[in-house]
Amino acid sequence: MNQAASSAQRSFGVTQSGATAQLWTLRNQHLACDLTDFGATLVALRCPDRTGAMADVVLGFDAVSGYQSADNQYFGCTTGRVCNRIRAGHFTLDGSQYQLAQNNGPHCLHGGATRSLDKVLWRGVSTDAGRAVQFSYVSPHGEEGFPGELQLTVTYTLLEDGLRIDYRATTDRRTPVNLTNHAYFNLAGAGQGDVLDHQLWIDADSFTPTDATLIPTGSIVSVAGTALDFRTPALIGARLHAVQDQPEHGYDHNFVLRECAGLRPVARLSHGSSGRTLTVLSDAIGLQLYTGNWLHQQIGKQGKSYAPRGGVCLETQHFPDSINQAQFPSIVLEPNSIYATTTIYRLGAR
Ligand code: BGC
Repeated sequence: MNQAASSAQRSFGVTQSGATAQLWTLRNQHLACDLTDFGATLVALRCPDRTGAMADVVLGFDAVSGYQSADNQYFGCTTGRVCNRIRAGHFTLDGSQYQLAQNNGPHCLHGGATRSLDKVLWRGVSTDAGRAVQFSYVSPHGEEGFPGELQLTVTYTLLEDGLRIDYRATTDRRTPVNLTNHAYFNLAGAGQGDVLDHQLWIDADSFTPTDATLIPTGSIVSVAGTALDFRTPALIGARLHAVQDQPEHGYDHNFVLRECAGLRPVARLSHGSSGRTLTVLSDAIGLQLYTGNWLHQQIGKQGKSYAPRGGVCLETQHFPDSINQAQFPSIVLEPNSIYATTTIYRLGAR
């Protein structure tokens, strides 16, 4: 165990409902991160470049008020109960119909409008001798329209070389669950321009094409010969023109990760001038690449503004709209089983 690990806690401000949000800082010899119980959110992740200079590489706000403002586009949050889109905010399960919030055109995005997991206060506890913070939340039956009382924990552990996120959930009746983290990364430092000069590798041979509203058509198509082929590392900006005229206005696509049991590297981001690298390891089957297309110069941490494409999200998850797409692997959690998934952001510099 790392003797130099430490954890500190302070107020992160008062929420609109009058509760005090907390901020935890985890530190070791190499890295530091800030986490808040509002949305079980990653607020900051500080890591060295090749010269040892530290920068915070995720977008966010200085206080909980920012996370409750219209400028928050799911920065660093835990996203669910079902991340990504559900067509028409509607599904049928065991003969019952469920209508969710339609907060993204006609669709439900990221778990709903007001009580999705990014918008509620979790309970945070420092664990693992100051190396980790475990957030827990009990989402009651019917919250945001979903069936089943869902008991959740999300544990962030600061490693010597990265940040590990373990998601766990159990339910008392069958319900769809699909959790991810929505961190926007910029390896030059949050607020330092856009990520078009970042090189990206994604271990995916195929993707799930969508209609104009970003609902999958149901087919799985090869990335070969498209702007989505990141099997050989490529600059994010190199082929952006091919996707920026689409309704999604940039990369906003679900990749079908190459099959493999357990945690494995699924994506790698690298930034030439700082030398920083981010390797995403996960046991997930899909990854949504979202290039911050709708960032709009909002003011974030330390007065920095976040330009369009000023961050890239690498959202490990099941496929969008899985609950309505019988041909996609199921996201239904059974009452007697445990939802468990892990993602690691491994940081380096070269
Ligand atoms: C989605 C985008 C959406 C964004 C909101 C992403 O996960 O794929 O379509 O605009 O979240 O911040």
